Amino acid sequence: MTMDLDAQAVGILRDNDRGGYTVPTSGLYPYQWNWDSAFAALGFATFDRDRAWRELEDLISAQWSDGMVPHIIFWQSDPGYFPGPEVWGTKAAPPSSGYSQPPVATTALRWLFESGPQAEGEPRLRALFPQLLRWHRWLHTARDPDRLGIIAIAHPWESGRDNLPDWDLPMAQVDISGVGEYHRRDTAHVEAAMRPQKADYDRYLAIIYFARDHGWDAETIAKQGPFWVADVGMTAILLRADRDLLALAQSLGEPAAAAEISGWIERAEAGFDRLWHPDLQAYCSLDLRTGRRADGITSATMLAFYAGVPLGDRAGLLHGHLERWWHKARYGVPSFDPDHRAFDSIRYWRGPVWPNMNFLIARGLADSGHGDLAARVDGDTRALIETSGFFEYFCSRTGRGCGGTDFSWTAAVWLALGASGDARRSVA
Ligand code: DGY
Repeated sequence: MTMDLDAQAVGILRDNDRGGYTVPTSGLYPYQWNWDSAFAALGFATFDRDRAWRELEDLISAQWSDGMVPHIIFWQSDPGYFPGPEVWGTKAAPPSSGYSQPPVATTALRWLFESGPQAEGEPRLRALFPQLLRWHRWLHTARDPDRLGIIAIAHPWESGRDNLPDWDLPMAQVDISGVGEYHRRDTAHVEAAMRPQKADYDRYLAIIYFARDHGWDAETIAKQGPFWVADVGMTAILLRADRDLLALAQSLGEPAAAAEISGWIERAEAGFDRLWHPDLQAYCSLDLRTGRRADGITSATMLAFYAGVPLGDRAGLLHGHLERWWHKARYGVPSFDPDHRAFDSIRYWRGPVWPNMNFLIARGLADSGHGDLAARVDGDTRALIETSGFFEYFCSRTGRGCGGTDFSWTAAVWLALGASGDARRSVA
């Protein structure tokens, strides 16, 4: 059974390979996506290390001159996806979206480097390192201009967790009067009940149009953009990625970079506390325009372990949420609190289980000495794939596969979980 699934997972990554980069799934997502590629690299690394490096090299090669690494890279045109490059109008070469995504890629690179022969990795890492440093610097400045130590997203898509209930209130403020008619393509590929709603898409587009009409200027976006929310997921993944970047700087002998990165880590460790919701007893996103906290808990709160923030008594509180969620929904880790009125077990980020998040959550739990919980999360990920296949995500109540099929990050996570002891420590 497992052998079969291993072969299937390798086949999926090979089929989704477009020659240097991997599409998340054909049809629904026909381009390169930023954090999807980081997971794809972890999967490739279990059977083709050179291809794993190339995945990340292709991603970083699309970096903007200001340091931003985009969330979608439109390497070729595909009429099956909306909104395509003409809607974004970023004038980037290669054509790309104008937002970034959580930098799982840095963490994946550290593993690739540390798990392989020095002679293979060092020249490739040395070539990428300055670009990675500039990307992190961009995230710490463009998305945290007030130096709060928490990272804002300028669009729900920048979080990678598109339709979280967290964004409902901030999105309600977005003016959609200029959006007009458009033709979605996603619901031609996937059941509409599993996707964001039209009200969400209207706002996704309005936010893009604002940035496009202001020449994608990061300062204007930070000061006046219609959506500006500090995200727990982005902040936690960047903090972890900073720690990994610091380790890489030390391996390469880059003391000036190491000092700069240490400053970011210090600021983020202090800033993370701003996301603590005293009533909900969890880390929650914060609307930086209104000062309002989200009124629900998402699975990103469990990334506090992955980020390595000092938790003290809070660790037990977070474990309590996890146990409660397991009790309520059959499979862990639901992307949103199953006790909340906005929970929906199949609608994208409003409650399903996502294998990429499970992978990061489990690595964080294992790192912080909670191996039993990490094993449970990994066990659920495996069980879902064994029962339902390589779907994009899974219903947290029934385990049914949802969203895209033959999905790259699901195949990659399967391979990374099943690989040797070293690979298991991939991002740990
Ligand atoms: C989509 O098109 O649904 C993507 O998540 C945007 O990044």
